[in-house]
Amino acid sequence: MRKFIGLNWKMNPATLREAKELAFVSRGIKKHEVVLFPPFPFIPVASKSGMKIGAQNFSIEKNGAHTGEISLSMLKSVGARYALVGHSERRTHFGETDVLVSKKFSASILAQVTPVLCVGEPWEIRKKGIRLAEAYIKRQIASVRIKTNNFIIAYEPVWAIGTGRACSPSDAVKMAEVIRGKMKDERLKIIYGGSVDARNIKAFLDEKEIDGVLVGGASSDIKKLRKLVATLNNA
Ligand code: PGA
Repeated sequence: MRKFIGLNWKMNPATLREAKELAFVSRGIKKHEVVLFPPFPFIPVASKSGMKIGAQNFSIEKNGAHTGEISLSMLKSVGARYALVGHSERRTHFGETDVLVSKKFSASILAQVTPVLCVGEPWEIRKKGIRLAEAYIKRQIASVRIKTNNFIIAYEPVWAIGTGRACSPSDAVKMAEVIRGKMKDERLKIIYGGSVDARNIKAFLDEKEIDGVLVGGASSDIKKLRKLVATLNNA
């Protein structure tokens, strides 16, 4: 089954030459819908490679005196059709609150850029039990104003991001069910992210309840990416 595969390069790679190579290798994934989330300077080149593009971040402002910020219309004009909203690295390292996440979510819907709303509980919550983790996720989702079903939810437990310690596919399925139950929308795409790589990607994609994955580290390291692509093509 065709699934959504988001490749979030984060603040990688260092050069345009490497970015071109990553985009080229990613094009090798034919069986799924692939969206690249490159850093801003590499969006045009990634877009030219024929891949679908998403932004890792954007400003809620439309234009004007906001030095260093990037608007949704700029991103659209260079080919971005998706945008990450509420990624845990932005919540944790850049002080993005639920209020800002909610504003970003609404701004991207208004601009017709599909938001990929990232939610996920930190380890301090998860270690106290799955019920608390579920409540945490429900609260994060409740903090955005939902008026359409044209968005994606990425369940990304914070403790699984960049740690090599992925959530088990069965636990990810359970959380996807909780999210779907809350949203009451059968068509909503729910994807999983957090240490997805060539070894475990198939197990996530094989789950009916999981509509795709968001891959970080394994998508911006050329060797790991080649392995990921090979695994998907052999599946
Ligand atoms: P990771 O990142 O695959 O490196 O854990 C996932 C993400 O941040 O979306």
